[in-house]
Amino acid sequence: MSQELVAIVMAAGKGTRMKSDLPKVLHPIAGEPLLGHVLLRVEGIGAQKTYVIVGHGGDKVREMLPGTSQAVEQKEQLGTGHAVDQVSPHLEGFQGTVVILSGDVPLLSDATLAALLKAHMDTKATLSLLTAHMHDPGSLGRVLRGPNGKVTGIVEFKDATADQRAIREINVGTYVCSWPHLSAALKNLTPNNAQGEYYLTDAIAAIAGGGHTVASHTSNDPWEGAGVNTRAELAALQTEYNRRTAAHWMAEGVTFTGPESTVVGPRVTLGRDCVVEQGAIILGRTSIGDRCIIGAYSQLRDMSVGDDVEILHSYLVDSSIGDGAHVGPYAHLRAHAAVGKNTRIGNFVEIKNSTLGDGTKAAHLAYLGDATIGKKVNIGCGVITVNYDGMRKCRTTVEDGAFVGSNSNLIAPVTVHADGYVAAGSTITEDVPAGALAVGRGRQANKEGWVAKRRGAQAATSSRDQG
Ligand code: UD1
Ligand code: CA
Repeated sequence: MSQELVAIVMAAGKGTRMKSDLPKVLHPIAGEPLLGHVLLRVEGIGAQKTYVIVGHGGDKVREMLPGTSQAVEQKEQLGTGHAVDQVSPHLEGFQGTVVILSGDVPLLSDATLAALLKAHMDTKATLSLLTAHMHDPGSLGRVLRGPNGKVTGIVEFKDATADQRAIREINVGTYVCSWPHLSAALKNLTPNNAQGEYYLTDAIAAIAGGGHTVASHTSNDPWEGAGVNTRAELAALQTEYNRRTAAHWMAEGVTFTGPESTVVGPRVTLGRDCVVEQGAIILGRTSIGDRCIIGAYSQLRDMSVGDDVEILHSYLVDSSIGDGAHVGPYAHLRAHAAVGKNTRIGNFVEIKNSTLGDGTKAAHLAYLGDATIGKKVNIGCGVITVNYDGMRKCRTTVEDGAFVGSNSNLIAPVTVHADGYVAAGSTITEDVPAGALAVGRGRQANKEGWVAKRRGAQAATSSRDQG
């Protein structure tokens, strides 16, 4: 089947009611654009090709498309039927099946889409559509059925009679159809309706009325068909998304201490027996191993985290953390920081574009940028890799077993060789040989009796001033 299945995602609409400069389909839920959620569903059906209809903000939409999708421009948004018709030049002679989805319906599930495809294949239908029963179907298109229950058409709310508006079964806007039939029906569309648009639903109705086999799958979950038209709907869908995602991961053996306040993106994976605390935000392509604690109000994006890692109240981006590490509170990893196993990254430690070997500790107040740090290194409190001289970035290397004392500056490029020891408060500008102690600071001088002398001088001055 996959050899003759093509997906079409409609994403050209402006989304006027969002009142936004960003095209509607790029507004995110859990860090993933609405369109990204839909494309994830498409990935699951094995289509040989995916066309995304772009219009408003088309350039921005193109930027986020994966290589497997092709953008097709709809210059003017003349309706959903017109949108799908833009693919016609690309599908000349195509005899297979198209799956059509809306780019602004993010909570459609893999299972529902699979059920619709299965209904289509099992009944050898020409056309199948997804419907949902809603308590309050608002302005969505209503599904019309004949006396035998067969779908006979879809009527848009604005064109519907009072009786039709009372129908609670709505058109989700997800279809599976034989392309030759749909393509012919699209050619016959006219914009003679309340909105003056070329309705895809009219083409669907024409096929349904043409004596062909029409199947449908009805979801009993109204959220699956819910689209985003306003910021309030975006927020409502985000809340519902959080609820479902937490439910999904709880079923996989993850504890959530505050599921409503926790955001887990659709590309995230969480291992067994993880604990995700309230307010944690885990986005992008983040993978987390088993038995990790993602502490309250931590934020992670595009992170790779091993097993048994504890993360407290930290901001971690584009980086990796080895098994058994302790991170935070208030740690910041970014730009490909790679922190080894059993490391300890403590409060107010920022690590950028650096690697830290297994068992290394940077427990408090440090900046490690552009550094290669070996195993079992101790980075004392307040250590700074001075990686930028105002023009270029240079690397710092600290080899295995070295000890960098508190409040030291390592002026890059510089290397502290294996087991080297940097005295606290040093400013290191030259390499430290293996096993050597480097002291790079002014010598201390004690001036005996200095305080008493100074006080005596002050007392003499003030009695003169008063007299
Ligand atoms: C459409 C359906 C309606 C269904 C509803 C489900 C039609 C005529 N009506 O209505 O039956 O209940 O979806 O959400 O199809 N788009 C384009 N180009 C256009 C117009 C729209 O790409 O010229 C895209 C939009 O970006 C959106 C999708 O098509 O992703 C649906 O368009 P929208 O205007 O939201 O249709 P509805 O009025 O919601
Ligand atoms: Ca819509």
